Amino acid sequence: MRLSVIGCGYLGAVHAAAMASIGHDVVGIDVDVRKIDALAKGEAPFFEPGLPEILAEGIASGRLTFTTDMSAARGAKVHFIGVGTPQQKDGYGADLTYVNAAVDALLPHLSAGDIVAGKSTVPVGTAASLTPRIQETGATLVWNPEFLREGYAVQDTIDPDRLVVGVGSSTDSDPVSVLREVYAPAVAKGTPFIVTDLATAELVKVAANAFLATKISFINAMAEIAEVTGADVTQLADAIGHDVRIGRRFLGAGIGFGGGCLPKDIRAFSARAEELGRGESVAFLREVDEINLRRRDRAVQLVVDALGGQVFQKKVTVLGAAFKPYSDDIRDSPALDVAVRLHGLGAQVTVTDPEAIDNARRVHPQLTYVADRDEAIRDADALVLVTEWDEYRRELAPAHASTLTAGRVIVDGRNGLDPAAWRAEGWTYLGMGRP
Ligand code: UDX
Repeated sequence: MRLSVIGCGYLGAVHAAAMASIGHDVVGIDVDVRKIDALAKGEAPFFEPGLPEILAEGIASGRLTFTTDMSAARGAKVHFIGVGTPQQKDGYGADLTYVNAAVDALLPHLSAGDIVAGKSTVPVGTAASLTPRIQETGATLVWNPEFLREGYAVQDTIDPDRLVVGVGSSTDSDPVSVLREVYAPAVAKGTPFIVTDLATAELVKVAANAFLATKISFINAMAEIAEVTGADVTQLADAIGHDVRIGRRFLGAGIGFGGGCLPKDIRAFSARAEELGRGESVAFLREVDEINLRRRDRAVQLVVDALGGQVFQKKVTVLGAAFKPYSDDIRDSPALDVAVRLHGLGAQVTVTDPEAIDNARRVHPQLTYVADRDEAIRDADALVLVTEWDEYRRELAPAHASTLTAGRVIVDGRNGLDPAAWRAEGWTYLGMGRP
C-alpha cells in the first residue's frame, strides 16, 4: 500500500522505515531539511537499534523515500501524522503547533477516500476538532496511537503488543479494514486490534503513559519511606512484584522517569483535565510529577553527603546522560539533570555516555564530556550511575574502577549495581531507597 508519514522524528522515522520493511511503499515527509537529507541517505538522525538496517533496506528496495515536499503525499492511501506534541513553553498543556501545521499542509493533497491516521500523542478532543476540515476533502480521520519505547522502537512498531484505532461516527469509508491491511503481519499473528471512538483512542495513549509514570512514582515514593525506615525498596519491589496483579516491571526505583513522553504527557493530561472541568480526577499526576522530580534532589544529596557535606571542586563522574539506556535522547533526562545540578554546586563534573554525548553537549556545553568510560572515571572522587547502560551496570567491575578513581564513593541512581560487590572492594555504595 502507498503510505505517507508526516513528521520524521523518533516516531515518524521509525514508522516510515518499519512500514517499508513490511512491504509498503512509503514516503516520509518533514520540514527539517537536515533530517530529511540524512534519512534519504539511509542515516538515522538519532540512535535507535535496528533503524539503520531497515532504513538502508527500504531505500535500496525503492520502497522508502524521504522528502520535504508535502505534495509527495498525493496518492498515498493512508497518511500518518507523527509530528511532535511538546510541552508548551509557558504552561503544562501540549503544544499542537506541529499537528495543526502538518494537517494544514496536508489538506490540499488529500483525495476522497484517503485516510489520515493520527499517531501523535494529543489531548483528548483534538481528533474531533480536526475532523471537519479533513472530511471536507472526502478523506477520513482516524486516531491510531503509538506505544513504542525508544530503544525498542523498531520491534514495537513491527510487532506491537496491541493496535488501537479510533474512528469517528460519520465515516463512509471503512478505515478499519484499511488499517488492518497496513498492519497485516501483526494482525495475522493475532495481535489484539482494538477499535474505539476517537476520544477513547486518544485517551488510551495518555492513560497508558499516566499509569506507567504512576507506577514508577509509586515505587519511588516507597523508596522515600524506605530511606527513613532502613528498608530496601528493591526487595520490596521484588516481593510485591510477584503478585501478578502488580507485576515487577516499571517498579525500578531510582532517579525516576524522563524522556520525550512520560513527563510531558502527564502534564498535558493534567492540563486537559482542568480544561474539561475534571482536574481533580487526575490531580494525583501532579504528585506523581513531584515525587519523580524529588528523586533527582535525593541523588544529588547522596553525593553531597558522601563527599563530606559539599562537592565544591570535587571530581564527580556521572555515568550516563541519556534518559534511559539504548537511547541518545536527553529530553527531560533525569541523568543529565543530576549532572547539571552537581555542576551548579561547584563540582567538577565529567559526564560519559555511549551515545548521548553530542546531544548533551549541545544543550549543556558547560559540562565536561569524555566518551571513554575509563578515562571519564580516572581520578574521580565519586561516581554517580544515572543511566543503566551495560557498560556501567554490568561491565564496570569495582576492582577495575578502584585502579582508576581517586575516591571510593559510588551513588547508584538506578539501583542497578550489586552493593555487596562494591562494598567488598572498599567502596561506599549508596543506592536509592536502600540501606
Ligand atoms: C514511554 C512508554 O513506555 C511508551 O509506551 C510510550 O509510547 C512513550 O513513552 P519511553 O519514553 O521510550 O516510552 O521510555 P520508557 O521505557 O517507558 O521509560 C521512561 C522512563 O522511565 C525512563 O527514564 C526510565 O529510566 C524510567 N523508568 C522506567 C524508571 O525509572 N523505572 C522503571 O522501572 C522503568
